[in-house]
Amino acid sequence: MLRAVGLVKSFAGLHGARVRVLAGVDLAVAPGEYVVITGASGSGKSTLLNLVGLLEDPDAGEVWLADRPLSHASRGEKSRARGRLIGYVFQSFLLVASLTALDNVCLAARYVGGDRAAARRRALGLLEQFGVAHRRDHYPPQLSGGEQQRVAYCRAMLNDPPLLLADEPTGNLDAEQAGAIREALRRRARSGGAVVVVGHRPEPTQDADRVLTLTEGVLK
Ligand SMILES: Nc1ncnc2c1ncn2[C@@H]1O[C@H](COP(=O)(O)OP(=O)(O)OP(=O)(O)O)[C@@H](O)[C@H]1O
Ligand SMILES: [Mg+2]
Repeated sequence: MLRAVGLVKSFAGLHGARVRVLAGVDLAVAPGEYVVITGASGSGKSTLLNLVGLLEDPDAGEVWLADRPLSHASRGEKSRARGRLIGYVFQSFLLVASLTALDNVCLAARYVGGDRAAARRRALGLLEQFGVAHRRDHYPPQLSGGEQQRVAYCRAMLNDPPLLLADEPTGNLDAEQAGAIREALRRRARSGGAVVVVGHRPEPTQDADRVLTLTEGVLK
């Protein structure tokens, strides 16, 4: 489902220096596989997820999704691939402040077309499943961090993406809510989805088929 080869990424640091965050990351994730990537804060986990999710381009290397190389594809091709193949739960949620919780979830359907009424029904079902249906008409700034996180998760799941990328997906949740999200991630993997979770807390690793550690710019 996902294959990343030799990903290198650096950022501009102070005084013109470059800071190399990823120094040649290789990663392959099969359908139905649940992979957890841990690493210290600042080790490059979110950077790696952004490259794999086609939100940023690597300096070198290539990301393959569903057997197609996409790192150097056109913007249009990348955004179509994102809509069709990827659900992304961002570390900072990235909900749209001017849209209600329900409309934020429904937004995911816009990028793939299809029946809007069906998408709305599905969105309501997901909000129900994650215990935030009573917040459907609220705007993100009116929601707690954990509520925003669960809405973001519903949005990522709406299109049933074959690849789910989640950045610290239970970071703001209490134990019960975190358990519900983890159960949903496991269920996705069992039904054939590829799941990649990054997080610096050791707690999600017990569910994983594989646990990798990002350290000094490479995965081990
Ligand atoms: N756009 C950017 N410009 C400059 N530096 C960046 C940029 N994005 C990330 N970095 C740097 O890259 C390093 C890795 O950041 P990243 O957010 O990937 O870490 P992380 O492992 O996700 O950390 P955390 O666990 O705190 O979320 C950090 O040192 C950060 O300052
Ligand atoms: Mg991060």
